[in-house]
Amino acid sequence: MSSSQNTAKQAAAQAALEWIRDDSIVGVGTGSTVNFFIDALATRRDRIRGAVSSSEASTARLRAAGIEVMDLNATGELEVYVDGADESTRHGYLIKGGGGALTREKVVAAASRRFVCIVDETKLVDVLGRFPLPVEVVPMARSYVAREIARRGGQPVWREACITDNGNAILDVHGLSIVDPVSMECELNQVAGVVTVGLFAQRPADVILVGRPGGTEKIVLRG
Ligand code: 5RP
Repeated sequence: MSSSQNTAKQAAAQAALEWIRDDSIVGVGTGSTVNFFIDALATRRDRIRGAVSSSEASTARLRAAGIEVMDLNATGELEVYVDGADESTRHGYLIKGGGGALTREKVVAAASRRFVCIVDETKLVDVLGRFPLPVEVVPMARSYVAREIARRGGQPVWREACITDNGNAILDVHGLSIVDPVSMECELNQVAGVVTVGLFAQRPADVILVGRPGGTEKIVLRG
């Protein structure tokens, strides 16, 4: 990754602090952009109650930063969720799961009132699908789900080295041009053995912070 992309990720992550209110519990995503956000959040750790994490990796980083990690079952609805994405449209539809944390990410996003997505400018697209769509599957269903996806025109590739935090497998689906992300998310969710589709369209981002080396563009879709 180029240093200018890192600078852009860091700019978006820093800008997300604007959405963190004192005394709140913050939903925290996963990935290199979120790592910059955790570092920024650490400077506010005495002003927040804690965080709900979307992965073992983010949990470790949050704890190392001195931020308490809380159980979503005990917190109720969260005010804000901050996470990155592999692709984002300007409508807030996302592909996520490049880091393999899509299931917990989708859960924490769903349990949050506002989803602030932090990306560098390379992630902005008009149509989703150039980035292979991650689909988390129950291990014994991997081949069946792959055939069902191929029947729908996708080219699934098993991410062999990856076992998710939930003990599942991931298929990365190439060759899709996702013009109707809500319908595709609904359809793939119906395939037996699919745990989570890495399309975040039924619950899209509410705010997109697009980092560039020179600053951050703020796209507010829902206040
Ligand atoms: C992890 C994700 C990440 O948000 C996505 O892969 C972006 O990662 P990065 O910030 O490292 O580019 O969905 O499952």
